[in-house]
Formats: sequence, C-alpha cells, structure tokens
Amino acid sequence: MKNNSFTVAVLGAGNIGSAVIERLLNVDNGVINLNLSKVLVSDLSKDRNLDSGLLTTDFNEILNDEKIDLVIEVLGGVDPGKDYIKALLENGKSVITANKDIIADCGSELIETAQENNVCLYFEAAVAAGIPVLKPLIESLRGEELTRVAGIINGTSNYILTSMEEGSTYEDALQQAQDLGYAEPDPTNDVEGIDAKFKAMILSLLCFGVSPSAEDVFTEGISNITKEDFDWAKRLNKTIKLVAQIDNSNDGFNARVYPVLVDNKHPLAAIRGALNAVLVEGENINQLVFSGPGAGSAPTASAIIGDVLSACHQMVTSQTNWYPLRTPKSGNKEFKDVQSSWFIRLSVKDEPGVLATIAGLFGENNVSIESVIQEGRGDNAELVLVTHEAEEDNLNSSIESISNLSSVSSVTSTIRVYI
Ligand code: NDP
Ligand code: HSE
Repeated sequence: MKNNSFTVAVLGAGNIGSAVIERLLNVDNGVINLNLSKVLVSDLSKDRNLDSGLLTTDFNEILNDEKIDLVIEVLGGVDPGKDYIKALLENGKSVITANKDIIADCGSELIETAQENNVCLYFEAAVAAGIPVLKPLIESLRGEELTRVAGIINGTSNYILTSMEEGSTYEDALQQAQDLGYAEPDPTNDVEGIDAKFKAMILSLLCFGVSPSAEDVFTEGISNITKEDFDWAKRLNKTIKLVAQIDNSNDGFNARVYPVLVDNKHPLAAIRGALNAVLVEGENINQLVFSGPGAGSAPTASAIIGDVLSACHQMVTSQTNWYPLRTPKSGNKEFKDVQSSWFIRLSVKDEPGVLATIAGLFGENNVSIESVIQEGRGDNAELVLVTHEAEEDNLNSSIESISNLSSVSSVTSTIRVYI
C-alpha cells in the first residue's frame, strides 16, 4: 500500500493543460497530496505563468523519473501522445488523458496495456468534457444491456448551431467558440463531425464492446447547414443538432454522426450552446440523459482532476478497477441499411405535374412522403418534403433522379430527422 502523496507530470500546457496545472497546484481534498514535478511543452520560450524549473521539452525526463506516479496527457492529436501514453503505462505510471483522438484510435489496446502493468488509464474528459458519463456507463450501468446511446457530444458545433438559430453567422459563431476555448486546435474536427465521431467510437467500445474503425462510422458535419434550414425547422416545431447515434438492436450495431432535425419536445432539443448531452436507452432504465458543459477548460480540468483523484485512491488501496470490456452482442449493420426519415428542400419550377413527378420518383425508390409544403411561384418555387423512414440507398437514388429533372433547379438541403 502506497502513502497518500503522489508526484504528477503534465504533457501539454495549452488551453486545457494550463487549467489543469492551475487546479493541480491548488487542489486540496484533505486526503491526497499531489505534487506537480514536470510539464512537457514544445516551446520553452513561450510566456507562461509557471515556474520555469517545471518545464521541459524532453519526454524522457518524465518517462524515466521514478518519482513520477501519474501523468496527465493533454497534448492533442494522435502523435506523439499515443506512443508516450503506451510507454508511460509500460513504465508503471498511471495516465489520465483528455485525448479522444488517441482513445478512439487504440483505446482497447491501451486499456489492456494498463491492466497488464497494473496501473490506471482514465479518460473521462475525452467524452463530453465536464459531464461524468463514462464512469456511470462503465460501472453503474454495467448490468444493463444498452440498445442506444445518442448524444450531442461536440460543444463547438452545438455552440455554432445554437448561435445560428439565434441569428449569428456560421463564421462569427465559430470564431466565438474558438475564443471561448471550446474548439480543437484544428476546428475542422469539430465542424465536420470528426471529434464527435472519435467520441462515438469511444462510447461504442465502452457501451457495446465494439471498436468500429473511423471509416465504419458514417460522419457528416454542420458546414452545409444554413439559416434557411433553421427557419424551416422552426416552422416544423423542430431544431437542428449534430447528433452521434449508436444503435445496438437485434438487427445489428451501427454508429454514425450527422446533423438531424430534432423535435422541440425531445430532450436533445433543449441542449444549447457548448452544453452536451448523452442519452442512453436500455430495457430496464428506459431512457437516461446526462447533460452539462461539454467543452471548455474549466469543465475539462474538473473531469481530469476527478480521474487523477480516482487513480490516486486506487493506488493507495492497490487496486485497478477496469471492468472487462463488454462482449459485442450483434454483428455490424452497414450504414446503407440504416433507416432514416428525411427533411428535403428543393428549388423547383412551379409548372403542372412537377409535384406528381417528384412524388413518383420517391415512390419508385420505395420512399414514402409524410408531408409536403410548397411556397412561391414561377421559376423559384420552394418545395419542402418530409419523408417517412427509408433506407439510405433508396433515399439517395431518389435524390439523384430528382436532381436530374429539368423542373428541379437544385436540391437545396437534405437533412435527416431524429427518430
Ligand atoms: P493546445 O493546442 O492549446 O495545447 C497543446 C499543448 O501541448 C501546448 O502546451 C503545446 O506546447 C504542447 N505540445 C503539443 N505538441 C507537443 C509535442 N510534440 N511535444 C511537447 N509539447 C507539445 O491544445 P488544447 O489544450 O486545446 O487540447 C488538449 C487536449 O484536450 C486535446 O486532446 C483536446 O482534444 C482535449 N480536449 C479539449 C477540450 C476543450 O474544451 N478544448 C475538452 C476535452 C478535451 P506549447 O505550449 O509549447 O505550444
Ligand atoms: N472541441 C471539443 C468540443 C472539446 O467542442 O466538444 C471537447 O471535447
């Protein structure tokens, strides 16, 4: 059994690292003493509010320091963090990381390395930042066979969508999200759904024991969503959210990320700004929703410090508490076989027979229409349709045929509806 003083190093002192360091220097839970011994950065000349004796650019100083018990990784990106984490675990050090890119890439391998070396690897901050969701999913819901996990798990894109709904431009909203420290160092990952995909891959592993590859998770971002889409969504009593959805029903497992129209009465519709929510469904629990701050340095540092204290507690009591990962229950379901309902906007010429031709093409592809609204006249009429549930392939074939009609100037939007 170890005493209750622990020596900690931090890899990275950027947006998240500096907030973590601040908390580490001041944390006092009355039981565990944390001593910060080293901070890895790439540029020693940067102005930082830190004792320069703590800083190093040499990872080996941390790896080979026997006094260091635990290392926090907040570098960002897969390289070199992935190799660093593996080497640290193999060297008997516990690791806490906020890095979804790495855990999505090789989470199960790193968990195994931690178990083999009897050390802790925790990454609560990697999904939904400040919301404690991974621990409840791994521990409290261990007895539940989950059927769906769905969520708003990227704060930046939710911040942008909420701001656009309130009248801001996409560009201004993205800049604000960056200024507020919500965005990734490269915000492409946020707006193109890639960050949410990484988080969905982590949730797939922890909730269903499935490690889909990045290519297996269909991913579409928010960069094509417009103010007009929001205006139409509002008329239909809906809003637009970037949702990661993982289904694990009897007919197979599928994980995907895309923007969807969500009914205003649904719990996900109320999640605004940089807040996140993770909705979990299972036979006995029906539906649970975890919600809270999903991005930003303070909530992320809170999750990291929580993991640090858990790991220290386990080191004091000589335990590591990873449950074995769940065993997959069903095979994969390809995205093309997933059924969605769709919101479709078309710019059409208002001439006799247009609507009948379009409806006919949907019908030929086995897509049935739930509602139609036509507005405007002449060459610039707008047609807005909502379909019943249809397979991706069928919907795509209908859209291809419809966009080739001379009476259709453009297919302005195709957005799925959350079901
Ligand atoms: P930053 O880019 O702000 O900071 C990265 C830090 O790592 C910098 O201090 C940089 O050094 C250092 N660094 C990067 N590469 C190297 C290297 N090769 N060698 C040594 N030091 C290096 O990133 P963030 O703090 O925004 O993000 C950190 C992690 O936290 C990411 O994995 C991100 O996904 C994750 N995260 C972010 C959240 C958020 O709300 N923003 C929420 C949850 C997780 P230097 O200072 O010298 O440039
Ligand atoms: N860039 C991420 C987001 C940070 O906006 O959600 C939290 O993981």
